[in-house]
Amino acid sequence: MQMVAIGLIASAIGIAIALSIHWFPADAAKQDHPIDTLYDVLMICSVPIFVLVATVVLYSVWAFRMRPGQEDQDGPPIHGNTRLEVIWTAIPAIMLVSLCSYAYAVLHDVEKSRKNEMVVNVRGIQFAWQFTYPLGGGKQVVSNQLYLPKDRPVRFEVTTADVIHSFWVPAFRMKTDTVPGITTQIRVTPTKLGSYPVVCAELCGLGHAVMRSTAYVVTPAAFSAWLARQQAPPAAAGGGGGGGAPSGAQLAAVGKQAFTSAGCGGCHTLADAGASGTVGPNLGTMLKGQSQDEIRQSIVSPNAKITKGFPANVMPPNFAQTLSKQQLDGLVAYLSQVSK
Ligand code: CUA
Repeated sequence: MQMVAIGLIASAIGIAIALSIHWFPADAAKQDHPIDTLYDVLMICSVPIFVLVATVVLYSVWAFRMRPGQEDQDGPPIHGNTRLEVIWTAIPAIMLVSLCSYAYAVLHDVEKSRKNEMVVNVRGIQFAWQFTYPLGGGKQVVSNQLYLPKDRPVRFEVTTADVIHSFWVPAFRMKTDTVPGITTQIRVTPTKLGSYPVVCAELCGLGHAVMRSTAYVVTPAAFSAWLARQQAPPAAAGGGGGGGAPSGAQLAAVGKQAFTSAGCGGCHTLADAGASGTVGPNLGTMLKGQSQDEIRQSIVSPNAKITKGFPANVMPPNFAQTLSKQQLDGLVAYLSQVSK
């Protein structure tokens, strides 16, 4: 009776602690709630089992420990207890079957297709994410940032250019591996405005830790505006100008913006942009004396020339696709200017 009382109290405390901890990041999609509830239910079921096992083990170690003079003795012969064995097989079996059924129902719910679904193609590349928005009529928008309209169901069609990665937005809970040769899918309905980290959750090489991007959940109007901006001819993009070639200062300003939005600072140090990454070379010193053509080559084909002391194949090779022409020109102008 004492053990049962201790077990009950310990379970209650354990469950209270488990439920009071906020285990997950922001709750930003329709899929989050059922998954978080499932997790809570699993905690409520597993804490008492842990307490039961730990209590019995600790009690047995203490109560049935070997005493001096018992070194050579065998334990009492035990012939089994059919009723007890039926009980301890049946209860876990019932629990497992019910929890599996519940988990299956949750999976079915979060994976089901919803009306008015938008498709975004996600491509994993060592070491970057590329998001493609099919627009119909063969047109598409390619970006290295993920923009999504709030409350619109999205189906991600996930592929890879090389190895196995894993596409994961923790705030959306859903995650899927990118697998060479096949297309995998996940569905998400973002429900909360904000920006959330996109990460790679499968060790995929030297740059795995920096294979990150950002998911922006914006209003439908802001999303349409963003999509239109991505399609706009370079001169109209960036909001400035009004025809004619952009001036050097304008280009450099666009470039500085691109430096931030493309995430260059995650890996490179550049004082002017407030960046202090150390995965790749320090751009403030390395680009000194380089021509604009050399800088451009380093951005679009990073493996063409590798700086001493840094490994190849870490910098994403797809900036020529994910940056617009104007962003790329701007980035070259900006980097050439600040490294003079
Ligand atoms: Cu891609 Cu880890």
